[in-house]
Amino acid sequence: TRTTVGIVGAGPAGLMLSHLLARAGIESVVVDNRTRAQIEGTSRAGILEADSVRLLTDTGVSDRVLREGRRHAGIELRFEGAGHRIDFQELVGESVWLYPQTDVFTDLADARERDGADVRFGIAGTRVVDLTTERPGILFDDADGRPHEVRCDILVGADGAHGVCRSAVPEASRTHHFRAYPFAWFGVLVEAPPSAPELVYTHSRRGFALISQRTETVQRMYFQCDPDEDPADWSDDRIWSELQARVDGPDGFSLKEGPVTDRSVLRFRSLVCEPMRYGSMLLAGDAAHTVPPTGAKGLNLALADVRVLAEAVESAVRGRDRGALDTYGPRALRRVWRAQHFSYWMTSMLHRLPDATEFDVRRQLGELAAVVDSAAGSTYLAEAYTGWPG
Ligand code: DHB
Repeated sequence: TRTTVGIVGAGPAGLMLSHLLARAGIESVVVDNRTRAQIEGTSRAGILEADSVRLLTDTGVSDRVLREGRRHAGIELRFEGAGHRIDFQELVGESVWLYPQTDVFTDLADARERDGADVRFGIAGTRVVDLTTERPGILFDDADGRPHEVRCDILVGADGAHGVCRSAVPEASRTHHFRAYPFAWFGVLVEAPPSAPELVYTHSRRGFALISQRTETVQRMYFQCDPDEDPADWSDDRIWSELQARVDGPDGFSLKEGPVTDRSVLRFRSLVCEPMRYGSMLLAGDAAHTVPPTGAKGLNLALADVRVLAEAVESAVRGRDRGALDTYGPRALRRVWRAQHFSYWMTSMLHRLPDATEFDVRRQLGELAAVVDSAAGSTYLAEAYTGWPG
């Protein structure tokens, strides 16, 4: 197959890019080794920045987010057993939307199918080749084991943190900026009504907890745990008593409990791969960078990447000037590093280090008090959480 842009990875980044390129009259082929059902069955984050929502609605992907998503005009920061609301609308005039990433994926996959795009799920053995030429290729086998080859002018790696594209860049041609964290999140889906009107980000001496939501009857919650924790060791009762212990306080905040239907441990880290281009291949989304989940920036960054990337590809294709591709990385990285800082900051402010001293805990409480008591502090949080313009 010959196409203009070959895209590895049919997650939100790859599909949104293919959609934006199609609107600009540029052909693409998207491949993914997962099936649609596998992607739709994986729990991911749930918060969209206002610009991410606008990208979905204004470019004609879907307006389902406006009908089924829930607008959140703030969050609660909870520490020492008391809640403090950060009012995004009042501070920066923006909101975020609770709308799961799996629904974003479904909307994009449906839109690409509706528009007759070439998207191939469930393939195997993907390799990318000839990246330093003007005719790079994606080689793979289809579900029946038959070999295929997609040749393109520009190849985009949107295949996630563990994909083949980033590792196809020789080590001498990339720098990895990396940070590990000595903890993970235990994530659960539960059948219960919401416990609070908005998301609750909790600092406690037992560690971080996040009370998030999905629908009127299903909620998403996380608590900080050891990276080696085994989900099988956690009964429903044990999960609920740990979550409740972390949010306990004099105000009597009490979680609404119900059956736990999904449990998993999410390890997390920070990573940025620079540059985001190698020859004719550009990296986007988690293939180029990973953030810790605190603050839900991962999906939003991926969508912001491909908005900039689509423009660079359009200039390169229309102007027959591959140099236009060089504008992508530096533009995208400005946002990436802000989001890296924000995710790191929220993480370090709210989580308990394994060897935390009383000094460390008091310092965090001082920082939290400074944020919630100061218009400047709260405004920074609100600006970063709802998303930077541009
Ligand atoms: C969710 C995940 C996050 O990392 C976050 O900061 C907020 C919400 C979620 O899955 O709902």
